[in-house]
Amino acid sequence: MIKHLTKMLDLSKEDIITILDLADSMKSQQKKGNAPQPLKGKTLAMIFQKASTRTRVSFETGMYQLGGQALFLSASDLQMGRGEPIEDTARVLGRYVDGIMIRTFKQQDVEDLAKWSGIPVINGLTDYDHPCQILADLMTIREYKGKLEGLKLAYIGDGNNMCNSLVIGCLTVGMKISVAVPKGHEPHQDVINFAKSYSDAFELVQDPSKAAIQADVLATDVWASMGQEAEAAARMKTFANYQINAELMNKANPDAIVLHCLPAHRGEEITSDIFEAHTNVIFDEAENRLHAQKAVMALLMQ
Ligand code: CP
Ligand code: NVA
Repeated sequence: MIKHLTKMLDLSKEDIITILDLADSMKSQQKKGNAPQPLKGKTLAMIFQKASTRTRVSFETGMYQLGGQALFLSASDLQMGRGEPIEDTARVLGRYVDGIMIRTFKQQDVEDLAKWSGIPVINGLTDYDHPCQILADLMTIREYKGKLEGLKLAYIGDGNNMCNSLVIGCLTVGMKISVAVPKGHEPHQDVINFAKSYSDAFELVQDPSKAAIQADVLATDVWASMGQEAEAAARMKTFANYQINAELMNKANPDAIVLHCLPAHRGEEITSDIFEAHTNVIFDEAENRLHAQKAVMALLMQ
């Protein structure tokens, strides 16, 4: 098993299945009220350089349910925000706590924390990756479809952190993924390179209706991610046709499910009617962040 969760590329298929199996059993134990507490006495530091609802609350609650505690550390309140190097912050936190979750801009910061802290580091979102979300997404797909292998996911929108992580995650577990993005907004080059060895299972197109054909799962994400606020108006125009709507749903399989990592912008990347018709899956997906991350913390921090 891995020592850190810095990016989806860290995970083998076996790692992902181990995490999902543990997440499933933790979810059912939690519902029955007999959840184990393998992290008694342990502390998770949570560093946030960007806003969050789900990541913050699910990690903090998850750590508590596992018997430990979590510290919310806003980067602007840490000395890091005044220029203390990440390798020093890492070496200090490594003396106090048992694991670090970080949400930040640069992927390199997560890698540096992992290198210098001496304790498990979990990526809670960077501009490049969102591995915790993809574990919850795969867990949700498996719950609704009973399997992962052979299913087709269509991702419609920006080739951003969600897109990068979904491509790696889907291909690693044996799913097919078709990505529709506007020219110039393709996924990261590392992701394209990874996908080259899965040529039959990966498709990169510009036409959303092509990507959606016979999809079992449709997924999208905001047109302007955190940190791209200044580009938001221009992006509204670029992405105008990259929307999950009733017309696009007609191209997919009739029993296709819809995923959205949230927050959602109705009328932009997804219409209100399609969002509301798929809230059972979308809010199970949000709930599964808690269970998937508890499994990750239990596996890394015990
Ligand atoms: N999906 C997700 O990561 O949500 P938050 O930004 O609210 O944490
Ligand atoms: N791509 C989005 C995901 C939010 C969970 C962002 O980075 O803001």
